Amino acid sequence: MGYLVTDNKKITTKRIREMKRTGEKIAVLTSYDYTIASLVEQGGIDMIHVGDSASNVMQGNATTVPITLDDMIVYGRTVARACKRAITCIDMPFGTYQGDPYKAQENAVRLIQSTGIDSVKCEGGSEIREALELIIRAGIPICGHLGLTPQSIYQFGTYALRAQEEAEAQKLIDDAKMLEEIGCYALVLEKIPATLAKRVTESVGIPTIGIGAGAYCDGQVLVVQDMLGMNMGFKPKFLRHYNNIGEQIIDSVNHYVEDVKNGFFPSETESY
Ligand code: KIV
Repeated sequence: MGYLVTDNKKITTKRIREMKRTGEKIAVLTSYDYTIASLVEQGGIDMIHVGDSASNVMQGNATTVPITLDDMIVYGRTVARACKRAITCIDMPFGTYQGDPYKAQENAVRLIQSTGIDSVKCEGGSEIREALELIIRAGIPICGHLGLTPQSIYQFGTYALRAQEEAEAQKLIDDAKMLEEIGCYALVLEKIPATLAKRVTESVGIPTIGIGAGAYCDGQVLVVQDMLGMNMGFKPKFLRHYNNIGEQIIDSVNHYVEDVKNGFFPSETESY
């Protein structure tokens, strides 16, 4: 377990909310499979998010739009098996909660019941309020997501910084307050000005988890492959590389290919 971890007690939504009150920053990373999730948990992470970014990272799609509920169930199941301490959250994929609110509730129940993940995340504010209320009424904790909401990429037309105009900023603050009021336990803020993230963070009692939203949020989230340097072409301003695993994998594969071609692998001690 990570050296910063002081206890092995399962992290709950209550504890996540308490962390805001006590000023303890919340560290979140994505994971989509058992092996990475196990390592991330051993690193002492507070929360693991099974993002629909799996559409890009695991499936090679250009957006998060194509990933399905069945796909997310497969990723979610493997991550849930790895997580003993970290609270887990999973994205409801595009098209599973934006329409009929009762269908949204049914989809959320299926996602939670068939994966063992602790909570769901949905993108959007007032326009999906009814669906969110029904999901919470079913006993499923929700993490909201405002600002850049990648499932709406075809509406935005760009992944540029959101809410630079006061009208959009004010709607975002109103939506954040609404998400708190209906019972969401946390809120992701993606790619908005740091000053706006500060206003939101100070306006709500639930923790804000930022990605490209500056240092004033109550926590931070990154896509694990991005911060490990596995997605080498992706270098947005908000991303910090904590390693260069991509280069290390390529070097290791090069070395292996060389050894096989030259007959250096396996050696006698590696043979039966
Ligand atoms: O899909 C995802 O990975 C996310 C996080 C980055 C918040 O939504």
